[in-house]
Amino acid sequence: MKKKVSIIGAGNVGASLAQLVVHSGLADVVLFDIVEGVPQGKALDLSEACPLWGSSVKVIGTNDYKDTADSDVVVITAGFPRKPGMSRDDLLAANAKVVGDVAKNTCSVSKDAIYIVVTNPMDVMAQMTLKVTGFNPNRIIGMGGILDSARFRTFVAWELGIAPEDIEALVMGGHGDQMVPMPRFTTAKGISIIHLLSKEKIDKLIERTKNGGAEIVGLLKTGSAFYAPAASTFQMVKSVILDEKRLLPCSAYLDGEYGLKGYYAGVPVVLGKNGVEKIVELPLNEQEKQDFEKSFNAVKDLVQKLETMEAK
Ligand code: APR
Repeated sequence: MKKKVSIIGAGNVGASLAQLVVHSGLADVVLFDIVEGVPQGKALDLSEACPLWGSSVKVIGTNDYKDTADSDVVVITAGFPRKPGMSRDDLLAANAKVVGDVAKNTCSVSKDAIYIVVTNPMDVMAQMTLKVTGFNPNRIIGMGGILDSARFRTFVAWELGIAPEDIEALVMGGHGDQMVPMPRFTTAKGISIIHLLSKEKIDKLIERTKNGGAEIVGLLKTGSAFYAPAASTFQMVKSVILDEKRLLPCSAYLDGEYGLKGYYAGVPVVLGKNGVEKIVELPLNEQEKQDFEKSFNAVKDLVQKLETMEAK
């Protein structure tokens, strides 16, 4: 039987992800949105591309959560994107309400699904999904690290004049302004970039990576990035659906790993059919540890801010 992926939010990220899943033939897709007609129209358009792509998966567009029942993977992209000048954190209250609704309505009909949370501020939204579904934390994963690392890989590749696919990068911590690109663990075919680039150059690339989302928001004026976010989410969906056990930087619930507990943060994880199957603990030096903890605490502060807002 084909696997089923439900994508909640048929906007830029959701529809681009649907295109990647359908084109690859990986799984049947349900595209859900609150706006009537949009998911149906995009699903029909994608269905009509299937003969051209040689794909035989089924695509449904809907405004009814019943159609998402028995999903293997639920991806949450519903919510509001950033406008110029906004940080991801500015989306907190509005998107928390959306994600809370989505989590409640999907978990009641897909009791075994793995969740991938994309909506920003993502680490906080992953925690919200964990709370609302009551599922085991390994089943709720946030998408951020793959995207931030892809941005870092791109900038490093341009700087070195080496193909982007030969650059591996690691960005840890929250998917926000306090993200932590890790140059020691960023390599060109295994050679750490600290041996290939000056500290000044690396610092510039780190700054551009941290500002990567805002740079695109500033150019687009309306809406935020979606091609690379969708491609990043697709890697996660694929690793879960095919049980690939890929090692990818994702936001996972920390329960003592890195000496931290109780909140989500970006760490290298092994992703398979059970979601997060392992969190890999790297030997961080003092500075890296400090930066990572600072980033973790920024996520923690935001979760607590949301809890205070909800209590009022
Ligand atoms: N239930 C379902 N869908 C919803 C809801 C809801 N309660 N509220 C909004 N949506 C839908 C919108 O109708 C829209 O189609 O979510 C979609 C969001 O799409 P876009 O506005 O195009 O935003 P997008 O660029 O896809 O980003 C979505 O991902 O990367 C993050 O920061 C980004 O949080 C944002 C999210």
